[in-house]
Amino acid sequence: MRSLLWLAAVGLAVAEDGLNAWLRYARVPSASHHLGKLPSAVVTLNATQGLPVHTAGKELVDGINGLFGKKLTVGKSKGTSATVGTVGAYVDKNPSAAAGLPDLIEDGFYLKVSKGNVLILGQNERGALYGAFHYLSVIAQGNVSDFTLTSNPDAPIRWVNQWDNMQDGGTHGSVERGYGGDSIFFWDGYIRDDLTRAGQYARLLASIGINAVVANNVNANASILTPENMDGLARIADAFRPYGVQLGVSLNFAAPQLLGGLDSFDPLDKTVINWWQGIADTLYKRIPDMAGYLVKANSEGQPGPMTYNRTLADGANLFARTLQPHGGIILFRAFVYDHRSLNQTLDWKADRANAAADYFDGLDNKFEDNVAIQIKYGPIDFQVREPVSPLFAHLRKTGATVELQITQEYLGQQAHVVYLAPMWKELLDFDLRADSKPSTLKDIVAGKRFGQKLTGYAGVVNVGTNSTWLGSHLAMSNLYAYGKLAWDPELTSEGILKEWTTLTFGQDKVVHDVINKISMQSWPAYEDYSGNLGIQTLTDILLGHYGPNPGSQDGNPWGQWTRADDDTIGMDRTVWNGTGYAGQYPPEIAAMYENIETTPDNLLLWFHHVPYTQKLKSGKTVIQHFYDAHYRGSATAQTFVTLWRKLKGRIDKERYEHVLFRLVYQAGHSLVWRDSVNQFYFNKSGIPDELGRVGNHKYRIEAEAMELKGYKSYKVSPFEAASGFHCVVTETNSTVGTAKTTLKVPSGKYDLAVNYYDMALGNSTWELFVDRKLIGKWKGDLEYELGRAPSPYIDGQTATRKTFKGVKVKRGSELKIVGTPDGLEPAPIDYISVLPEGIVD
Ligand code: GCU
Repeated sequence: MRSLLWLAAVGLAVAEDGLNAWLRYARVPSASHHLGKLPSAVVTLNATQGLPVHTAGKELVDGINGLFGKKLTVGKSKGTSATVGTVGAYVDKNPSAAAGLPDLIEDGFYLKVSKGNVLILGQNERGALYGAFHYLSVIAQGNVSDFTLTSNPDAPIRWVNQWDNMQDGGTHGSVERGYGGDSIFFWDGYIRDDLTRAGQYARLLASIGINAVVANNVNANASILTPENMDGLARIADAFRPYGVQLGVSLNFAAPQLLGGLDSFDPLDKTVINWWQGIADTLYKRIPDMAGYLVKANSEGQPGPMTYNRTLADGANLFARTLQPHGGIILFRAFVYDHRSLNQTLDWKADRANAAADYFDGLDNKFEDNVAIQIKYGPIDFQVREPVSPLFAHLRKTGATVELQITQEYLGQQAHVVYLAPMWKELLDFDLRADSKPSTLKDIVAGKRFGQKLTGYAGVVNVGTNSTWLGSHLAMSNLYAYGKLAWDPELTSEGILKEWTTLTFGQDKVVHDVINKISMQSWPAYEDYSGNLGIQTLTDILLGHYGPNPGSQDGNPWGQWTRADDDTIGMDRTVWNGTGYAGQYPPEIAAMYENIETTPDNLLLWFHHVPYTQKLKSGKTVIQHFYDAHYRGSATAQTFVTLWRKLKGRIDKERYEHVLFRLVYQAGHSLVWRDSVNQFYFNKSGIPDELGRVGNHKYRIEAEAMELKGYKSYKVSPFEAASGFHCVVTETNSTVGTAKTTLKVPSGKYDLAVNYYDMALGNSTWELFVDRKLIGKWKGDLEYELGRAPSPYIDGQTATRKTFKGVKVKRGSELKIVGTPDGLEPAPIDYISVLPEGIVD
């Protein structure tokens, strides 16, 4: 108990660097008025240091001190108190109370707040901690009224996956598809010595009901299982344990061969089975409460049972059986497909989307009881819009978990704000109509529809060492929402956001309005400018999955095809003429998607191959919808900057500036998206924009058309990533380049927008002059400022805009840019827009 005392004294006034996220315990308004309604002491029942009930006590002390400035005494006192513990421990002390307590399922909690007395009981220790966090969240939102609450999780599996590599380097860096810095767990092939961040992460996760973290990448390195690294894993588990978060481990299917020196990894081979049993036994010796395994097999080059003509069930069961004596479970991924054999040209019916249901066909009753199948929400790969994977309706005996992605791999990599809860809600609410009965995804993954026991949620988070965790403060609403929805999918996106905003930024109404507007418009806006009508996120799928590159989708075996040609676009996934994917759904849904009339517009191109002139339900043609949506989405992104500026002085400077920087960047990059995608399809289809915008940019001066010295014109590939298909680059990487022009606009104030490319090959410098007066100077160092995947190319990923507002120019003014290359970055410039006030182009 004494340890609680010194913890209470630890100051909470830290810099607003995001580290405490929504657990800041910042002082609530009029805190002193509420003191009487708060407990004066905290009593923990059977608390053991290092376990969740003890942690709950500490959080209550810290929280109430931070939020209200009230210092709780620890242990019984005369006044009001907060009592926290398990139901078991409470009933032991108060047998007569048992009858009055509600039924709780695993991890559930009961909370009773009455005139400053607080009773927090968990079904288990973890539940007690969840209850404490819940109570703190309620009072942090300024609500100190009495209430009683029984809260049970909707599903037992509420896991987080981290795609952390054992070391930096390679194509994916320290955290694959992570945009918040290096791994908090691993460095240089080993587990870090200092695991402070691991503990802080567990604290955040526990506060939103997450009960396990798989710490290493699904593309697993077998070396995670060396004795030294298994010792390290035990240290991670130790860091998690006070928060009730269990550790899970990703396995490399070929580890018996790669690490064990066996000549096989056949899942039915006795020596292989014994080898894995040895691993499980050793791990559980070190980590008795380990959650279990996550396995990606036979997918994207990863080894698996199919190498030996064994089924996926043979593969999963191998691990399942080794875990059974220890009570562990295995999440076996359904993301199984062959990225080498699909051929778009030869086979109209080839379809990566078919893979999961095909591979798992006939296996439903073949899995051991401690196996659950982890299925990405859609059949391809975390696109901005996908239909719900039909596999969820196929697995009736084996439990399913839905895999969501918090890290915004295809959705702007935290350099674009995209609040994901509305998308997840749509997916979870989708009714698959299995056997023509209500079969929402949320009911399936809660085990309510088919009655499986092992079901739930897996979220790919990929936080890093950055103090913001994900690389952006606003992106943390996604992590918060993920945990909240996994606990209770009935919550609303806006309700969750409101709660998160209060906890993260306080109660100011203007702050709430702004964050609500930006967040709630962010997914529709991103969909509008990145890929609509179900065509997928048109990113560069071969490189960083970030900037626009519609052409990269097709002509390769990855299978994220659009089948766009000069006249038509979309994947024909019908049964009658296409890949047959629509037929993988239960009949009612299959019929809806089979028919173009009943397919919703937003998935039209997912299911049908149509001419660009195909009329939508809205009356627009496909191509005009593309043009309009890209203009609409990027216009919305411009408003985010204006909205956010209203918060100057209303929130701390540190977070205000951090977010502003990203929103300004996003506004510019949304135009890159708009122009690239529109230009690409205009070029393909030859159909002009009815409103005459696409390809006509009257305020732009192309850099290649300026008077150049030390700069030369350069043809950009893909062509659509540059206005006029060209940019300028310095003649050598030591030549300073100058691009000059005489302005022909009427004298006045203009916004000058420079579009340039910030490659990860150096930090070039650009200087913009008007009549020899320096307007601005900046460096190409976004690879350090933004966490998004770095790129060495001049393309849609590196294209960036810098705007100088309200610059005075005269008719005949000389506008000049001087570019100084650095390293291999040749200070590339695409164009300059001279924009009258209020116009963005
Ligand atoms: C995507 C992602 C990969 C990841 C894979 C997976 O394809 O780009 O980085 O390994 O999904 O989920 O396994």
